[in-house]
Amino acid sequence: MIDLRSDTVVKPTPGMRAAMAAAEVGDDVFGEDPTVNALEERLADLFGHEAGLYCSSGTQTNQIAIKVHTRPGDELIGDDGMHIYRYEGGGIMATSSCSVKFVANDRGRFTAAAVEGAINSVADNYLTRTRLVNIENSHNRGGGAIWDLAEVERIRSVCTKNDLALHLDGARIFNAMVADGRAPLEWGKPFDSVSVCLSKGLGAPVGSVLLGSKPFILEARRVRKRIGGGMRQAGIIAAGAAYALDHHLSRLPEDHARARRLAEALMELPYVAQVQPAMTNIVVFRLHGERGAAPLLAHLRQAGITALPFGPDTVRFVTHLEITDEAITRTIQALASFNA
Ligand SMILES: Cc1ncc(COP(=O)(O)O)c(C=O)c1O
Repeated sequence: MIDLRSDTVVKPTPGMRAAMAAAEVGDDVFGEDPTVNALEERLADLFGHEAGLYCSSGTQTNQIAIKVHTRPGDELIGDDGMHIYRYEGGGIMATSSCSVKFVANDRGRFTAAAVEGAINSVADNYLTRTRLVNIENSHNRGGGAIWDLAEVERIRSVCTKNDLALHLDGARIFNAMVADGRAPLEWGKPFDSVSVCLSKGLGAPVGSVLLGSKPFILEARRVRKRIGGGMRQAGIIAAGAAYALDHHLSRLPEDHARARRLAEALMELPYVAQVQPAMTNIVVFRLHGERGAAPLLAHLRQAGITALPFGPDTVRFVTHLEITDEAITRTIQALASFNA
């Protein structure tokens, strides 16, 4: 099968499994797992934050961050496609009892002016307290769109002026940095907290790291414990994440080139109405007509290719380290043979 559903489907390579088998471990809830500690410190140093916390998933790092930044009844600002709102089981409402205000956006990216206009006046007791802004980079529903760091820095200034925290959902921040050529230190700086996933494009089997100040991470550790997220000999999986950082970062441009190839081929097809420009490893496209995405997905499945619907007439392809040039060629052939 050619699995274009997500970059989360990647299985550990033999080298990664060997590194995991050899990992030094300890009880991470006691803070004694050397492999976890090293991973947390490595990512904190890389992004210029004081401390890190290794968690089981990106959902957990994001939702812990929201919990620590807010009080019940607060409001956070973001776009209507953001993962923390759409795809994290209602955690903003259920775990943190917060409301959300959406701002106008282009493929998930919004402006500092939009944020400024969405902040509730603290003097008005009819209104909820605005407390947090969330940025997702690259943006999943936005078809892997990447943010302009200058706009993020302007949003940082608005946050500082209005006493708001700024969180980065960096599930695919390494993909974004490959595309914009910026360093992790530049991307870490504007944010109070950063969630970095190792189990997406990097191909580790499990885990995300939450970054922030020492007091923030201390509180995040308490929330992680409260929700049962404390892991014991987690060095086994953290070793896979460290291996991914060592061996898989440098190959991310290949995924982007393959996504661009897919996007270019899609643009030529008469049944495709629109293709979002492929900026990273995600390609989102919309089909003409009334039949929706299902017939195309069924046709691809017959050719041994799986992808996800991303709306009634929209499809998402994601490239990753198991998708070769030959797989792209086969996918393009299968797309060309679809009778719309
Ligand atoms: C943008 C974004 N944020 C967060 C997550 C959550 O990560 P996890 O699946 O590890 O909970 C995902 C998952 O795909 C994602 O795409």
